[in-house]
Order: sequence, then structure tokens, then C-alpha cells
Amino acid sequence: MLILTKTAGVFFKPSKRKVYEFLRSFNFHPGTLFLHKIVLGIETSCDDTAAAVVDETGNVLGEAIHSQTEVHLRTGGIVPPAAQQLHRENIQRIVQEALSASRISPSDLSAIATTIKPGLALSLGVGLSFSLQLVGQLKKPFIPIHHMEAHALTIRLTNKVEFPFLVLLISGGHCLLALVQGVSDFLLLGKSLDIAPGDMLDKVARRLSLIKHPECSTMSGGKAIEHLAKQGNRFHFDIKPPLHHAKNCDFSFTGLQHVTDKIIMKKEKEEGIEKGQILSSAADIAATVQHTMACHLVKRTHRAILFCKQRDLLPQNNAVLVASGGVASNFYIRRALEILTNATQCTLLCPPPRLCTDNGIMIAWNGIERLRAGLGILHDIEGIRYEPKCPLGVDISKEVGEASIKVPQLKMEI
Ligand code: KG4
Ligand code: ZN
Repeated sequence: MLILTKTAGVFFKPSKRKVYEFLRSFNFHPGTLFLHKIVLGIETSCDDTAAAVVDETGNVLGEAIHSQTEVHLRTGGIVPPAAQQLHRENIQRIVQEALSASRISPSDLSAIATTIKPGLALSLGVGLSFSLQLVGQLKKPFIPIHHMEAHALTIRLTNKVEFPFLVLLISGGHCLLALVQGVSDFLLLGKSLDIAPGDMLDKVARRLSLIKHPECSTMSGGKAIEHLAKQGNRFHFDIKPPLHHAKNCDFSFTGLQHVTDKIIMKKEKEEGIEKGQILSSAADIAATVQHTMACHLVKRTHRAILFCKQRDLLPQNNAVLVASGGVASNFYIRRALEILTNATQCTLLCPPPRLCTDNGIMIAWNGIERLRAGLGILHDIEGIRYEPKCPLGVDISKEVGEASIKVPQLKMEI
């Protein structure tokens, strides 16, 4: 058990009596025989402290999450030491809640799986040090998890999906297109050259002061944009999708953010309002940004589908495209991707929104996937470190660009 000393702000090892009390606080079922593998998953890579207990068949036995979104909205973005402090304050309670809800004894766990890469160093550190102490006390194997691999494989918990499939991972920190060939076998086809789409939406939402909008004040930036866009007219402004002439699968979102900034400044002048007040055209701006982003995501993903089919990396018919990560919980983007999959004889699959944003279930499930495949299960945790930056799979994006595939125009009537 880990205990936070509020004054020092560090973890210390508690007495044996306290460990015993902690373990006794769970509802044990002595004599119950668990035939399935059961994994405790712990996630602290960004601004959610999350834990879940999942079994081999994909049953979620227990789950708990503490979101820091509202705190970071007030500070205008994630402040890493503040995120670290909140993880420290909540991790023990969240893990305890997930385990208690599962009604299993910690001794029945097959392993503990924790996100160790990529993410914010200070946040990853909290989850890792907590997990390593728990692993030591319970004498269980440890499974280090790659956050983006976990987002990619979540779909195999909710749907029956075989390898290979294409995945578009869109979140606050990443934008990746990859071919998933196995549990830890990824080919990277393209990535963002600058910021991630969620980061761009968060910045636009902040610039539009959506936190002051009565309907959006507690929503993440991306969610606020989706909400407001429903009331807006996307034809009101015209923004060209980024990287129009680059025939690869890379993405870019800073240009889109800057163009939007300029539109906002112009409108503030026209409407004679100060920065920080809500523009009357905020909904139209939100609708335009969301549409332009959706078109950009579709275009790059279209090229990836054509590339994979050309190289026989995906079947010609009924290939699966998975979209996951926080931004994939956006229904406008899902509809845009559906236009693409209908046009290319593919099937679009997305986890439910609560499994697209960060959660403990995807980490526990990745642990189950790894246990079943016998991949990356550690019995010795000596020298294990977190890695704030970590690529996904083997990067073949140069080869994709060299193929220079022309993408036919799709009618994006969403
Ligand atoms: O995957 P996630 O929970 O955390 C990261 O690993 O980054 O994604 C968070 C991002 C944030 O940028 C948030 O604004 C965005 O996902 N997001 C959305 C929606 N809900 C969350 N973006 C667009 N539409 C949404 N409905
Ligand atoms: Zn994420």
C-alpha cells in the first residue's frame, strides 16, 4: 500500500499492520476459484487517474476514475506539477474503488498493468511508483503498457476484431495512423508533424472562452467545440484543409489553429468585443474548425486505406478502420469517417465515447491481451522506468509518402 504524506508530498512504505488493513478492506471470497485471468489496470499518463479490473473474457469487474478536466480548464491548460499532485491525492482511492467494486481479492489478480509510456513525466511517475509498490507487496507480475497501443486495442474488448486492422488514434497528445498486425506489432503510416487535434480544439475553445459559455463550462475543449458546432453554420467561414499537396499520411493542426485565431481576432474587431468575451459567431467558428479537421483526418486516412490495400496489408473488402482516443468520441468526426469507409468498402468501428477518452479499462485490457499473447510480462521489475516520449511501432511513413497516392475527392456532406 502507498500512503501520501501531505507535507512531504512523497510516498512512503506503510507498516505491515496498515498493509494488512488495506488488503482486508476488500470483499474477499475465500475459496472462490477464478478460472479466468484477471488484470488490474492503472492509468495516470495525462490528467485522468483511472483504474479497472478486467477479466480475460472482457468483463469489466470494477472501475474508477478521477478526472482533472475541470481543474485544468480553470488554469487554461494542464500544469504538470498540478496534475502530478492530483494523481498523488487520488491514486490510492481510485485503485481501492476499482478493486472493491470488482469484489475480488487482490491475491486473485493475475497481473498488474500500468501505463509507463508515452505521457507527462510527472504523471507517469505517480502511476508507476504506486504500481511497483503494489506489485512488490502482492508478488504479482507487472505488465508495462504503451498508452497508444492500449487506445488501439480497446476495440477488441467491445467488438470481435481480428488482426490486421487500420487504426486512427486522435487525442489530446497524439495523431497517429497505424496498421495493427498483432498485440504489439504496429506499422506507423503517418503522424502529426506538430500538435495533436485534441490540443488544437482545446486551444480554440480557450481562445473562444468557451469556459464562460453556460452550456460548455465544464466540458473539455473538444467536447465544447462539438456541442457548440451543432448550433453553427460551417459554411460561414472557409478554411482550406492542411497539407493539401503532400501526398502522404501525415497531419498538421497548427496552421488550422492560427487561421482560426485570425478569424476570431477579425470577428472581435467587427463585433467590437474584447478578448475573453463570447463572440456571436462562436458556434459558426466551432462548426468550421470541426469540419475542416474532419476533412483533413478523412483525407489522410483515405490515403492510408489505399496504401494498405495496394500493398495487400489489408483485405480488399471489409477491411476494418478503428478510430479511438479522446477526439474519436466526436460524432461529427465519426460520421465523416463513415462516409470514407462506405466509399472504400471498409467497416468503421469505434469504442463507446467513455472508452475513447482515457480510462483504466483499456489499460487492464491491454494487460489481458499481453498475458494471452505472452508478451512483455515482467517478473522482475528492477530498472523499470517511465518514458515520456515513445514512438508507436515501426515507422514506414516515408515509404507511404514515396508511394505518392492520389486520393479521389469525397463529398463530405455530414
Ligand atoms: O485520449 P484523451 O482522453 O487523452 C489523451 O491521451 O490526450 O483525449 C483528450 C482529448 C482532449 O484534447 C479533448 O478536448 C478531446 O480529447 N475530446 C474531444 C471530445 N471529447 C474529448 N474532442 C472532440 N470531440 C469530443 N467530443
Ligand atoms: Zn489517451
